[in-house]
Amino acid sequence: MIEALLREWTGETVVLRYDRPTGAWIFIAVHSTRLGPAVGGTRIKSYPDVRAALQDACRLAEGMTFKFAGPGLPYGGGKAVIALPSDFDPQARPALLRRYGALVHQLGGLYCTAPDVGTSADDMDIIAETGAPYVFGCTLAGGGAGPTGPATALGVFTGMQVACERLFGEASLKGRRVLVQGTGSVGRALIEYLRAAGAQVAFSEVDEGAIRRFRDELGLQFVPPGAVYTVECDILAPCALGAVLNADTIPQLKCQAVVGGANNQLAEAQDAERLQARGILYAPDYVVNVGGAMFGLGVETRGWTRERAEQEVVESVRRALRQVFELASTEGITTAAAAQQIAGERLSATVQSA
Ligand code: PHE
Repeated sequence: MIEALLREWTGETVVLRYDRPTGAWIFIAVHSTRLGPAVGGTRIKSYPDVRAALQDACRLAEGMTFKFAGPGLPYGGGKAVIALPSDFDPQARPALLRRYGALVHQLGGLYCTAPDVGTSADDMDIIAETGAPYVFGCTLAGGGAGPTGPATALGVFTGMQVACERLFGEASLKGRRVLVQGTGSVGRALIEYLRAAGAQVAFSEVDEGAIRRFRDELGLQFVPPGAVYTVECDILAPCALGAVLNADTIPQLKCQAVVGGANNQLAEAQDAERLQARGILYAPDYVVNVGGAMFGLGVETRGWTRERAEQEVVESVRRALRQVFELASTEGITTAAAAQQIAGERLSATVQSA
């Protein structure tokens, strides 16, 4: 039940709204405002039930708290989920986004939104009609930083270089076999970086059009969704949905490292130990996928140029992931625990000085 879910959750507040005209449920989870206003994307999709949607919002919001705390960004963790009914009429979408924007506006800055799975920069423009100034990641024409997926991919790519450095003694991805799961805004851009670096790229995808594009036009190896966890490769890059690393999949993995853009890749905390026991190097998701947020927020609130923002993403992810790997090996803990320790220190340091 949802009572248990919220009782166990470590976050601050959940705002919920039933959108009567469409039958959609809106959840805005504010996990922490310790370091600043809660920021996080809006995820739009269908869920098996309302509880699953709420749980996703809560877990994702927590991830955002750690994502911002790690590199010391002055934001708290939040996330919104709009759970669509199975019979949702796409024509009702713009009006739903405007009502959602009005809700975000009403919160007066407690939570600021941005793109996530199922939402784009174009959607942010519509949400901003009613939600401004609490909307990040609008299009360039709409006064925003434009799509943030490519910057997320740049950070993930940098994370892969750090993983290669650790595993093979050199950062280059040339000739490395990388399997990218999901060719959405992040996966697609990541594939470009990998190809340019001379990696051997395979991909997995469920959308027929995307499969044709990447397999037939780019000539990349296609791995059917059912085979993702058994393919031999150097790096597996989850860039679709969460919880893909779990008690079922980890024993099957034939990769040396996992470095991807998806949020909440571990189904539960013990999965970090399962990976470690199998000798698989795990780059904690929020450490390497901070690029989109860092880029979008840097360009929109700090006046960074795009080049400066990209440079910050590369340097910050490189520094942070090296530190995580170092700490994990010196303390003999998992990389997930190391990342949590680093972010946790920042969160508690702020409390003491407040
Ligand atoms: N979906 C992004 C993430 O998970 C959220 C984001 C994008 C936040 C752009 C701010 C700006 O990191």
